[in-house]
Amino acid sequence: MTQISYRSERPDDAPLVAALIDRAFGPGRYAKAADRLRESNTVMADLSFTAWEGETLVGSVRLWPVAVGGEPVAFLGPIAVEAEQRKHRIGQTLVEMACAAAAGAAWRAVLLVGDAPYFGRVGFDAAPAAGVRMPGPVDQRRVLLKALREGGADGLAGPVTSGG
Ligand SMILES: CC(C)(COP(=O)(O)OP(=O)(O)OC[C@H]1O[C@@H](n2cnc3c(N)ncnc32)[C@H](O)[C@@H]1OP(=O)(O)O)[C@@H](O)C(=O)NCCC(=O)NCCS
Repeated sequence: MTQISYRSERPDDAPLVAALIDRAFGPGRYAKAADRLRESNTVMADLSFTAWEGETLVGSVRLWPVAVGGEPVAFLGPIAVEAEQRKHRIGQTLVEMACAAAAGAAWRAVLLVGDAPYFGRVGFDAAPAAGVRMPGPVDQRRVLLKALREGGADGLAGPVTSGG
């Protein structure tokens, strides 16, 4: 693998990011409960990160403002890495950069819907998210939280709503 560089998302990146997400997830992804939280929302570009091999976008992760029971929380997703570039820790690095940026911006926790075996490696856990209610059907075991400070995920419960 050649050198990968990382930086926060810029407005010009949006079409490339959209195309990468389409390739990674395929058609039909807009039906997911997580997409309901992104539809009428604005990505936090400064907390969203891109991975580049030269001039080519090879990875993306995005953070969005949501609230859980009225408490502001950063919502992570989608995360996508170009198929040829997987298993080189690009995904993990993107998640870690987004979480560090969110912590620096004083967000208390990051929420996502995803595979616990993958996101557990970077500190996400279903247990503190047991009372978090996504806006649509979802396997609750895939609703994961990561505290960004001591106790940051404690007491988060109730409906997830779009916006901060
Ligand atoms: C998920 C994804 C972003 C991971 O990117 P990546 O750069 O390959 O991730 P990393 O290199 O940090 O981690 C790779 C490791 O995670 C494992 N892994 C990948 N997806 C996984 C999943 N859904 N569940 C459990 N483990 C997973 C890989 O097998 C690999 O294991 P290894 O280290 O033992 O070889 C990438 O596979 C992707 O874009 N997938 C399609 C989009 C997608 O499904 N995104 C959401 C995932 S919930």
